[in-house]
Amino acid sequence: MKDVQHPALLPETIGELSLANRLAVAPMTRVSAAADGTPTEEMADYYAAFARGGFALIVTEGTYTDTLHSQGYLNQPGMVSDDHEAGWREITGRVRAAGAASVLQLMHAGALSQGNRYRDDTVAPSAVPPRGEKMPEYGGHGPWATPRAMGQDDIDLAVQGFVASAVRAERAGFDGVEVHGANGYLIDQFLTDYTNTRDDRYGGSVSRRVRLAAEIVSAIRAEVGPRFCVGIRLSQGKVNDHTHRWAGGTRDAEIIFAALAEAGASYLHIASEGRDWVETATLDGGMTITGLARKVTGLPVLANGGMHDTDQAATVLADGHADVLALGRGALANPDFPRRLAQGLPTADFDHLMLQPMATLNNARLWRPAAGATA
Ligand SMILES: Cc1cc2nc3c(=O)[nH]c(=O)nc-3n(C[C@H](O)[C@H](O)[C@H](O)COP(=O)(O)O)c2cc1C
Repeated sequence: MKDVQHPALLPETIGELSLANRLAVAPMTRVSAAADGTPTEEMADYYAAFARGGFALIVTEGTYTDTLHSQGYLNQPGMVSDDHEAGWREITGRVRAAGAASVLQLMHAGALSQGNRYRDDTVAPSAVPPRGEKMPEYGGHGPWATPRAMGQDDIDLAVQGFVASAVRAERAGFDGVEVHGANGYLIDQFLTDYTNTRDDRYGGSVSRRVRLAAEIVSAIRAEVGPRFCVGIRLSQGKVNDHTHRWAGGTRDAEIIFAALAEAGASYLHIASEGRDWVETATLDGGMTITGLARKVTGLPVLANGGMHDTDQAATVLADGHADVLALGRGALANPDFPRRLAQGLPTADFDHLMLQPMATLNNARLWRPAAGATA
């Protein structure tokens, strides 16, 4: 029994949002919605378990925002119809009743779409074939298609999709939305030098490449209530390029963070796609990317990547690198991670087999007895 409380168990606020502790569930795609994108009862059980287990904040899986090109995978949930909204309302109600806040992650897949029930083609800032291959765990196989370069009309429609989905999210009882600007999807394709070769106002310097992200944040901000949280998630690495780093290092990071704060973001969430925070966070000059985000913007910052390591988690908070910690795999292995931390109980290791052959909730359920797991 430890007598000093872990700093992750202390309360925190993100704008108007009061959190019971500093532990969040990171967004995780589970490709378990109905074919039409409606969230299911099984998903409500899944999300409610994290809230019961003591997580103060749950960021949902990436959710598509329009019936055009945003959907990334078959059985991904959407937020574009009344049925979607009703399904999510059920989930926000269950999560709130168990004492947690919830944020809907809004995602446009862009060139990294591998399953879209509305369209066969893909769009992106430029017609550049994506690196890597589609992801079998989310139902894809083989090389990505070469996307069509978006015109201004496509961009305007994409922004409108984010705004309309955020308005639905607020109606459905979410405490906020998180714009998915990370991991190689549409917004990150605009931000990235080698996927964005445009010569208009969205291409060229980093301050132009971050424009789409900033426009989406400010367009959402203008339509939702003042208490509604509008966060954004960013990363250097991508699902199809884990080692990518912003070419301008600290300078790029400062421009990106400042533009998003200016646009009205409530928080910045820095993801460590496929890597640990320690490996991805250190910038030239020795500052950490999360610490820099805090310094440049004064906004709350969520750190991610291996935060189930409780020593690392304590250091990140105690040394001022972040305000809240988002756990992905650690939360899957321990939906009650905060409760375990508070009670000094051991935690289970993440077993990748629970996401095989696809990352569905059903496969995790089938894995449980075989693995002898209790989670
Ligand atoms: C099954 C699975 C699905 C994921 N889906 C998403 C997603 O929808 N949106 C997102 O931003 N990140 C997604 N991620 C990345 C996680 O949010 C997180 O950044 C990554 O797992 C590293 O954190 P961890 O070390 O705590 O697991 C996913 C990760 C996993 C394991």
